Amino acid sequence: MANNLFFLLCISFTIASFVISTDVRKEVSKIRPDDLTPTGSDFAYVCDPSRYAKLNLDMSRFAFCDSKLPYSVRAKDLVRQMTLPEKIAQLGNSAEGVPRLALPKYEWWSEALHGVANFGKGTIFDDLVPHATSFPTVILTTASFNESLWKEIGQAVSTEARAMYNLGRAGLTFWSPTINIARDPRWGRIAEAPGEDPFLVGIYAVNYVRGLQDVQGTENYIDLSSRPLKVSACCKHFTAYDVENWKGVDRYHFDARVTEQDMEETFNPPFEMCVKDGDVSGIMCSYNRVNGIPSCADPNLLKQTLRQEWDLHGYIVSDCDSVSVMVTGHNFLNDTYEDAIAQTLRAGMDLDCGKSYPKYTGNAVNQSKVRESDIDKALENLYIVLFRTGFFDGIPAYKSLGKNDICTNKSIELATRAAKEGITLLKNEGGTLPLSTGMFKNLAVVGPHANATIAMLGNYAFESKHPGSPCHYTSPIDGFSTYGKVNYAAGCGDIACNKTSLIPQAVESAKIADATIILVGLDLTVEVEKLDRVDLLLPGNQSELINQVANAAKGPVILVVMCAGGVDISFAKNNPKIKAILWVGYPGEEGGRAIADVVFGLYNPGGRLPVTWYEANYVNKIPLTSMQFRPDDSKGYPGRTYKFFNGSTVFPFGFGLSYTKFNYTTIQALHTLPVKLGRHTHCHDLNYMANKTKPTCPAILLNDLQCGEYFKLNIEVKNVGKRDGSEVVLVYSKPPDGIIGTHFKQLIGFKRIFVAAGGREVVNFVFNGCKSLSIVDYASNRLLPSGGHTIMVGDGVASFPLQVTFH
Ligand SMILES: *[C@@H]1O[C@H](CO)[C@@H](O)[C@H](O)[C@H]1NC(C)=O
Ligand SMILES: *[C@@H]1O[C@H](CO)[C@@H](O)[C@H](O)[C@H]1NC(C)=O
Ligand SMILES: *[C@@H]1O[C@H](CO)[C@@H](O)[C@H](O)[C@H]1NC(C)=O
Ligand SMILES: *[C@@H]1O[C@H](CO)[C@@H](O)[C@H](O)[C@H]1NC(C)=O
Ligand SMILES: *[C@@H]1O[C@H](CO)[C@@H](O)[C@H](O)[C@H]1NC(C)=O
Ligand SMILES: *[C@@H]1O[C@H](CO)[C@@H](O)[C@H](O)[C@H]1NC(C)=O
Ligand SMILES: *[C@@H]1O[C@H](CO)[C@@H](O)[C@H](O)[C@H]1NC(C)=O
Ligand SMILES: *[C@@H]1O[C@H](CO)[C@@H](O)[C@H](O)[C@H]1NC(C)=O
Ligand SMILES: *[C@@H]1O[C@H](CO)[C@@H](O)[C@H](O)[C@H]1NC(C)=O
Ligand SMILES: *[C@@H]1O[C@H](CO)[C@@H](O)[C@H](O)[C@H]1NC(C)=O
Repeated sequence: MANNLFFLLCISFTIASFVISTDVRKEVSKIRPDDLTPTGSDFAYVCDPSRYAKLNLDMSRFAFCDSKLPYSVRAKDLVRQMTLPEKIAQLGNSAEGVPRLALPKYEWWSEALHGVANFGKGTIFDDLVPHATSFPTVILTTASFNESLWKEIGQAVSTEARAMYNLGRAGLTFWSPTINIARDPRWGRIAEAPGEDPFLVGIYAVNYVRGLQDVQGTENYIDLSSRPLKVSACCKHFTAYDVENWKGVDRYHFDARVTEQDMEETFNPPFEMCVKDGDVSGIMCSYNRVNGIPSCADPNLLKQTLRQEWDLHGYIVSDCDSVSVMVTGHNFLNDTYEDAIAQTLRAGMDLDCGKSYPKYTGNAVNQSKVRESDIDKALENLYIVLFRTGFFDGIPAYKSLGKNDICTNKSIELATRAAKEGITLLKNEGGTLPLSTGMFKNLAVVGPHANATIAMLGNYAFESKHPGSPCHYTSPIDGFSTYGKVNYAAGCGDIACNKTSLIPQAVESAKIADATIILVGLDLTVEVEKLDRVDLLLPGNQSELINQVANAAKGPVILVVMCAGGVDISFAKNNPKIKAILWVGYPGEEGGRAIADVVFGLYNPGGRLPVTWYEANYVNKIPLTSMQFRPDDSKGYPGRTYKFFNGSTVFPFGFGLSYTKFNYTTIQALHTLPVKLGRHTHCHDLNYMANKTKPTCPAILLNDLQCGEYFKLNIEVKNVGKRDGSEVVLVYSKPPDGIIGTHFKQLIGFKRIFVAAGGREVVNFVFNGCKSLSIVDYASNRLLPSGGHTIMVGDGVASFPLQVTFH
């Protein structure tokens, strides 16, 4: 049911984002999208005096158009001037507008996860704007561990988005990024997600959101309700959302049973960082229930946590049709639509992606279930965001953006570099890679992804059922063609690879080629929104293809794996005929060029895996629907993510090789961190193993500390190899030995640096003691333990002890 509704929303594709209703047709023609080209008339904004003049309306009667007043006052005035039915007509994603007030229609739903997408009703691709840049999927971009890159992509995307808005082809509110934790490799939306670590996900969110939203020079406004927005971003899906459809359990019915500990430690921090450090202007609540309550109906999550504790300045929108999912899927409190709406409005959900608010709120008011003041508050939250985007007044700096700012060489090159920075070298025996250009002229490029195009985009990009496509594609065979003569054989009919009849042709190519590149993996038929995986294997006969081709190959064999969640490729890792393995995520429109440039050494890879690659039997040990991160011996659950999983992996979190070699020296390290206590600070107990000595004062609650202590770490990285290269420096903290039930280690800092061959770079980290050394106990307290912590660099390339003492 909800499924169908959602689908209907997606295909009813009739909106221009800036069109007024029928009784003001003249006005419509004035601001029709085609008139909004940079060469045409002025770009459109609501409080344009000439609009009001044409409609015979006196703009001075409308205080909401008085640019001297604060946005909050203007928003209140706008809402005050609406009748109740007019108000209710603005509560869905396709807001109707109020012709009487010259308030135009507005479509809230646009998407820009890794480029402006043709998915979502607010974006329109046609002859005027046929393309936009499709950057690599987020999971690959995350693997670059390059904060500046994430921000720069956000900036490039928002420039194209704002240009499309000027052309009447997009809204100003984009429901991106996705910042749920990649909790389990089976989750279908890992392509969208920035990895398995909450700190990493949070830092990604902050940078991408700032890239999308920040208007240069206004980053540090004191009054956040007036801070301008280039476009409005939206962190989603709040919260504990990461089950699509697994063995019949779907997100429209799923109740995520989450401990307070996992909530505080893992699910919430990325959203908290997105709100507090990213100053995001939108949050989407998720379909699922959390401990029995649909997240869009939970005042604790929305009103209390997001608005009060984290001080959200923005609006809260439902995932599409969440309200009807509540009624028809979750049967929450056996609700009617009116009951559900009463609950979600009270909880703080301002906007319904769907039709439930516009359709049933009137009735709910009549039944005295909804107060008009709750509606007013929601609308004020919404309009303040639109004021900040310049919807009412324009933003002069962006006035001239247009067609020439979409698919620029610069953004296409950025998409290519992003793919190169994320590509991760997983195996390179005997320094087989890079291949030298002169020596390998005949290339066998085989496998079901050898001619990948749309598959390289992953999801939330360009769906083939709607118009629109990336600026350009470079498939792998195109990319390799610039280096040699390509002999292409798919080897499989498709990703499912359910027959072997195409394998011999691939084998024949490999027999005569100087080098063989096999491109395999997954695609949206296997891992996608609404579909979780049930195993971690390459589909069908893909492994058969790999083994046969590798066996027959004359030259070196390079395996390239395209996927988001990890696959168990132990057989290839252990096959001596396969000299090198690259993980390329879903690398975006220029993926083929990025892959070929890495294989031939034009770019030295430095990506690191943002998720653990588990062995295939992992899926038998714990159901996807169990949300917990810690191992549970009584159930045989092995734990999740590098922080808690103690089994063997195919490749661990943070893994990635280079064509060069780096040597680390820790230049400066403090060995004790004296922490100042207040007069009335109490010691907090911790569970220690019986055979370890528990300190007399085991820990202090973070809330009881000033948290003014910092420690520094200066690391010198030398490139002791023969090639220039980029290195990702990862820093972890490890709590004192013997504390029961805490993580093995946690990521506390990272930096990607470029080091020329023979050169050296120094990376300076400054860590806050509370932020970087704290743990979360079973009762969800954040605590700073005393005693011997360990700071580790990378996979133990350097480590030093740090003694925390209380005074
Ligand atoms: C990180 O990204 C920035 C911005 O795109 C770029 O200038 C820089 O070269 C990248 N750093 C490394 C080490 O690749
Ligand atoms: C819940 O809904 C069902 C089906 O609509 C109905 O039969 C039942 O009486 C309702 N229960 C309550 C407590 O309202
Ligand atoms: C609410 O009640 C009023 C007054 O009875 C009526 O005019 C209006 O149509 C009702 N609205 C809805 C949505 O039922
Ligand atoms: C983009 O610019 C680069 C470097 O300036 C140049 O090498 C390349 O040919 C240009 N690409 C296109 C498509 O114009
Ligand atoms: C590669 O894929 C593209 C797009 O699907 C198609 O047009 C082209 O013919 C394919 N190339 C080969 C060699 O099959
Ligand atoms: C193989 O896959 C194709 C398309 O992916 C499908 O039409 C066909 O039924 C499958 N055959 C078998 C035997 O599973
Ligand atoms: C592999 O191909 C064979 C023969 O075409 C087919 O019978 C078999 O089902 C395929 N295996 C898988 C796992 O799809
Ligand atoms: C991890 O597992 C190994 C054996 O597989 C065990 O020896 C070790 O104690 C475990 N470590 C922790 C911290 O549980
Ligand atoms: C790298 O560092 C190790 C120990 O820190 C040292 O033994 C080795 O000689 C260094 N290698 C180079 C090439 O500097
Ligand atoms: C301490 O006890 C834990 C379990 O309580 C055990 O795993 C560990 O091996 C013991 N260590 C020593 C040094 O005895």
